[in-house]
Amino acid sequence: MTSASPAAPASDLWHHYGRRRAQTDRSVPERLYWTWGQDSGPGAEILGDLTGARVIDLGSGAGRQAAHLAVHHPVDRVDAVDASATQHAMARDLYGHLAPRLRPLHTDVTAHLREHPAAYDLAYSLFGAACFTDPAVLLPAVADALRPGGQLVIATLAHYLTGQPPAAGIRAAAIPAKLPDGTTTTMFRWVLDAHVWTKALDGAGFTAIAAERLSAAASSPRGADTLLLRAIRTAEPDVRSAPPAA
Ligand SMILES: C[S@@+](CC[C@H](N)C(=O)[O-])C[C@H]1O[C@@H](n2cnc3c(N)ncnc32)[C@H](O)[C@@H]1O
Repeated sequence: MTSASPAAPASDLWHHYGRRRAQTDRSVPERLYWTWGQDSGPGAEILGDLTGARVIDLGSGAGRQAAHLAVHHPVDRVDAVDASATQHAMARDLYGHLAPRLRPLHTDVTAHLREHPAAYDLAYSLFGAACFTDPAVLLPAVADALRPGGQLVIATLAHYLTGQPPAAGIRAAAIPAKLPDGTTTTMFRWVLDAHVWTKALDGAGFTAIAAERLSAAASSPRGADTLLLRAIRTAEPDVRSAPPAA
C-alpha cells in the first residue's frame, strides 16, 4: 500500500497539504462543499443528474470530493487528476479501493485534457487547478475535453486572502510557498474578478455562464468568500478556431 506521507520530489509545492488529516481521516465525505471553509453552502446537488456521467476533478488533491461523487452519486467514473506526487499518492492510498469508479491520475491537467477531446460530461475544480493554472491555457483545454453541453464548475477565491479585491484582468499573484525541504519559494495563484472569469470562459467556448459569491459562514475559522462559477460547453462547432468572415 502507498504511504499517506510519501517522499516528494523537492519541487512538490503540495507536499504538506492535507497530510495531517490523512493520518486520521480515511472516510469518504458524506457531502461535498464548494466553499473555502468547507463547512457551508450548496453541495453536489448543483451538478444535476450525474447518472452515467464521466467526471474529471481538476487538481483533486487527496481526492476527497472525487471519492464522494464516486460513492454517493451514480457516475460512470471520476478521474481525480493531480500534478503533485504527494497528493496523488495520498489519493491512491485513501481511495485506491474505489477503482474503477474513481481513478487517481498523476499528471498536469492541461496535458491530460488536451489528450482527451470530448471525453467528459463534467469537469470541476474545487480550489484546484483553476486557481493555480493560467486560465488562458486551462479553460480552452477544459472546453476541448468536455462534450458539447458538458458542464464546468469552478470554486475559487472571491478575493485575496489579505482581503484585497480580486484582479481586474488575467493576472497571477505570486504567493509564498514552502518546498518539502523547508526552503521558501513562490507559487502563482489566479484570483480574478467574476467579470474577468466570465469573459475568459466566454472566449474559451462556454455559454450559460453564472457566477455566484458564497459568503463565508459567520462561524467559519477560515473566513474567505468563494466565487462559484458554472458554465456549459457550447454545443456549436468550435467558435474559437472559426476563420474570420470574408
Ligand atoms: C489547494 S489544493 C486543492 C485540492 C482539492 N481540490 C481539495 O479541495 O482538497 C490544489 C491542488 O491542485 C493541484 N494542481 C494545481 N495546478 C494543477 C495542474 N495544472 N494540474 C494538476 N494539478 C494541479 C495541486 O497539485 C494541488 O493538489
